[in-house]
Amino acid sequence: MKGLKGKTFIITGATKGIGKVIALEFLRVGASVVISGRDLEKLESVRREFELMEFSPLSIPADLSKPEECKRLVQLTVAHFGKIDGLVNNAGIPARGRFEVIDSSIVSMVLSGNLLTAVNCTREAFPELIKTRGNVIFISSIAAIHGFPNAAPYSAAKMGLEKFAESLRIEMHEHNIHVGVIRPGLVNPPSDKRVLQADGSFQPVTRKGHQSQESVAKAVLRMIKRRRSRITMTPAGKLFSILNWLAPWFVRFVLIKTQYSGKYEIQKKL
Ligand SMILES: NC(=O)c1ccc[n+]([C@@H]2O[C@H](COP(=O)([O-])OP(=O)(O)OC[C@H]3O[C@@H](n4cnc5c(N)ncnc54)[C@H](OP(=O)(O)O)[C@@H]3O)[C@@H](O)[C@H]2O)c1
Repeated sequence: MKGLKGKTFIITGATKGIGKVIALEFLRVGASVVISGRDLEKLESVRREFELMEFSPLSIPADLSKPEECKRLVQLTVAHFGKIDGLVNNAGIPARGRFEVIDSSIVSMVLSGNLLTAVNCTREAFPELIKTRGNVIFISSIAAIHGFPNAAPYSAAKMGLEKFAESLRIEMHEHNIHVGVIRPGLVNPPSDKRVLQADGSFQPVTRKGHQSQESVAKAVLRMIKRRRSRITMTPAGKLFSILNWLAPWFVRFVLIKTQYSGKYEIQKKL
């Protein structure tokens, strides 16, 4: 893609899943890419995989729920590439579980992993993004349109993320920073995909998704090129968004009726 060549982007949560695919798409269009995540072994394996494709990403391990590690991520990126043109806040913890059985430590983990990671990183990157009039992208979810049953803390975190983005868009207007929010629908899970459950365990995902990881990555590139503020993905996601606007009572009715269908992998109280 014309325009991203030579630009520097940090992609958080790039040790696997959607973040890894976003990082690869950015490398393919000629961007300088920083990949990050907590799992050093996986991070280095992704870096080596990309190097075999003749790309040279910079890998920086970081737990982004800690502000000081976000600061380090930004400092090392600037020391290496000299600037930051964009931040893709993709890191997150997909989580399921009925609220009455979720331990409070899991609630904190989900809120922190899906909201604070992005808030911390954005805060540290902003001085650099102001210099480049750059882009900050948030990977949200259709779970931010209406609270999903069996995913209350996850929905709350993603809704919080979207409202955080709205505030920034206003505050950063004078600096011409582009703030974008992408809401993927259910993404086809890779075989190693795990979802956090109410008891703190990570379980494999059995259901099929409605879109590919590549489609999310391409949407991020499109969003940056056109400086769009929000993209809701998949026909089901778009319909869900329109219905929630026109007839929220109907959306509530459908969610109440479907919550026990097994579709949401309900975890029963032991
Ligand atoms: N998959 C879907 O169906 C779907 C749908 C809608 C939205 N989304 C959103 O898309 C994003 C990616 O989802 P995914 O399915 O690819 O998830 P995933 O496979 O579980 O990957 C999550 C990534 O986030 C990183 N991460 C988590 N907590 C972190 C922390 N505290 N600090 C740094 N990195 C952290 C993980 O790396 P480490 O474990 O190495 O730290 C990993 O690289 C998430 O924000 C998710 O909410 C996903």
